[in-house]
Order: sequence, then C-alpha cells, then structure tokens
Amino acid sequence: MVQDYREYIDKVLVSEEQIKTRVRELGAESQPGLRRGEEILIVCILRGGVMFTVDLVREITVPPLAIEFMAVSSYGSGARQSEGEVRITLDLNTRIAGKHVLIVEDIIDSGNTLASVIELLQTRSPKSIYVCTLLDKYERREVEVPIRYCGFKIKNEFVFGYGLDMDEYYRNLPFVGTVDLDRYEPPAG
Ligand code: PRP
Repeated sequence: MVQDYREYIDKVLVSEEQIKTRVRELGAESQPGLRRGEEILIVCILRGGVMFTVDLVREITVPPLAIEFMAVSSYGSGARQSEGEVRITLDLNTRIAGKHVLIVEDIIDSGNTLASVIELLQTRSPKSIYVCTLLDKYERREVEVPIRYCGFKIKNEFVFGYGLDMDEYYRNLPFVGTVDLDRYEPPAG
C-alpha cells in the first residue's frame, strides 16, 4: 500500500490557484521577441517538468513552437537530495542549431542537472537558451544556472506535487506541498 499523502503533507506551499495564475503570467512573459521565421523549441525535462510544461505551452501563443523531451537523472534511488551526478537518459530527437530553446523544469535545487543540460545543448549551436523553472530552491545552489523565468522562489523544504514526486507517486497533484518526513513511510520494495 502506498501511503496517502494527507498523512504526511505538512502544508500546501503553492496552491492550485497560485500555480494557474503564475503559469499564465509566465506564458506571457516567456514569449521571446521572435522575428518571423524564427523557431522556438520547448525542452521539457522529464519527468518532473511535464505538468508545468503542458500547462505553460498552452499559454504561449507565438507560433511556430515545437516541444521536445529530455530525461535527466540526478537523484540516487530513494535519495532526497541531489547528489551532483547527472545522467542524460533520454536525448532530444531534433536538431537545435539556430533555434531558440526554452528549457522547462519543475525545480532547480543544486543546479547540477540544468548546468549539465545547458552545457550539452550549447555545443549544438542553438540561437539562444533560456531557462524557465516553476520552483527555485535557491539556498541549495551549488552551480550557478541562468534562470530567465521563475514561478516561485522557495526555502529549503522537501516538496512534492505538480510534477514533483514522493518515490514516484503524487506527481499529479494540482498543488505543491511540503512533506513532514517524520510522518512519511516510503513504499515497501
Ligand atoms: C529533479 C528535478 C530537476 C532536478 C533538480 O529531478 O526535476 O530535474 O531534480 O535538482 P538539481 O538542481 O539539484 O540538479 P529528478 O532527478 O528527481 O527526476 P524526476 O524529474 O524524474 O523526478
């Protein structure tokens, strides 16, 4: 049995309404001044970034826009904090040379994940690379990441929901909550 999140949630940190409002604002803000014929490629970082990405792109009205996915693994199994080791487990299917790339993340913590992604993508000659993150856990930064668009700056608390998981569960919650780890029981096996 997977534990019900209501048994370990400490508080709702960012509500569904706050997320909706901010996503709408970010959608408007993050439409770079594109000229006719320029392309924008949204790069969603799986898996956490998926909820934010699908909501954000519906607020971006500047065509032409394409969406791609990258999967990056930065946390060890069962670990609660980034360990600084980053592996690209799924790469883009598209060439990004000459395109404006907007990387969309759920959270930036140590910065290791995005620093590695940006370093890799920069070798492929994009026209620009911007970063949009829903959450910025700024106190934990180990590597600087140029964040162009940020939903919410948060303190160093363990968070879940709206893309962020508790041992893979509850990414589908429409809000971001904090966890009381003393009350959390990881799934068996
Ligand atoms: C999380 C999050 C970011 C990364 C941030 O992903 O989605 O990609 O960690 O941490 P960092 O700034 O310290 O590198 P995770 O590896 O948990 O994978 P997931 O998105 O599949 O849950």
